[in-house]
Amino acid sequence: MKIIEDIREMRRYAKEARAKGAAVALVPTMGYLHAGHAELLRVARESADLVVLSIFVNPMQFGPKEDYQTYPRDINGDMKLAAQTGVDAVFVPYAADMYHHGFQTFVNVEELTKVLCGEVRPGHFRGVTTVVLKLFNIVGPAKAVFGKKDYQQYLVVRRMVEDLNLDVEIIGVETMREPDGLAMSSRNSYLDPAERLAARCIPRAMDEVNAAFFDGTRASASLIDIVKKIIENEPLAVVEYISVCDTETLADLEYVEDSARLLLAVKVGKARLIDNCLLEKKGWSASLDSL
Ligand code: PAJ
Repeated sequence: MKIIEDIREMRRYAKEARAKGAAVALVPTMGYLHAGHAELLRVARESADLVVLSIFVNPMQFGPKEDYQTYPRDINGDMKLAAQTGVDAVFVPYAADMYHHGFQTFVNVEELTKVLCGEVRPGHFRGVTTVVLKLFNIVGPAKAVFGKKDYQQYLVVRRMVEDLNLDVEIIGVETMREPDGLAMSSRNSYLDPAERLAARCIPRAMDEVNAAFFDGTRASASLIDIVKKIIENEPLAVVEYISVCDTETLADLEYVEDSARLLLAVKVGKARLIDNCLLEKKGWSASLDSL
């Protein structure tokens, strides 16, 4: 497994592989890898000849009061997991190289980023799309793999690819969960044991709302109320947003006809946890998501 820090070297390495006819798949991450990231790497391995994992804690997507400085890092553990999943190259650029002196060019997806996480974290998605476009330009992947755990991010990246005619196929992967249903996340490491237990209210609320949907509840206000009550019942959890919305535009729905996406953000201690699931007629369960 090759470890590359230099941008020009990464570009050269990927270009040589493409010249030999290899299809390159990129998995962009911020490191502190877990089984969710491993699943993305597995999917990448299956769908391309050469797998590039990028690890870069991107300062541009963190707000001034957010956790950029304290974001968890474990480069040795990450390298081990990468080697186990058959990654060909790990790209670990320096922030000073990615954003050299005088940097001032950004890409912004306008509408999709005005709601939900975009509303609560101004500038966040602009930072995400800018770094993802830079990574695409450096690596030149035929495919890039993203998790639906960050559903809004997945839609925003797809929108950018469509709008800017980027020649990259975006592959979405379902959310990998802990045995009790909590979505795997690097930020789960912020939870102390009591908070970790409290965080179970998130998958529990999602299971309940799915059961209600399956039983015929279709008014968004009623569905949101179910989630709200369960989370508010947990003293360590604070709801940031709960939305029942269109699966593509993320526009709020008043009433769900066939399907919708439920998205939520909850603060538990200092961890801001996000999760989402599809509401559809055939039913969904947190315990089935990653099977
Ligand atoms: P990060 O949070 O490290 O996530 C990297 C990728 O892993 C994202 O596509 C995310 O959706 C996916 N992922 C995280 N948890 C997952 C889970 N439990 N199941 C499946 N996939 C999961 O998202 C980012 O980094 C950054 O914003 C990035 C895209 C790298 C740009 O900086």
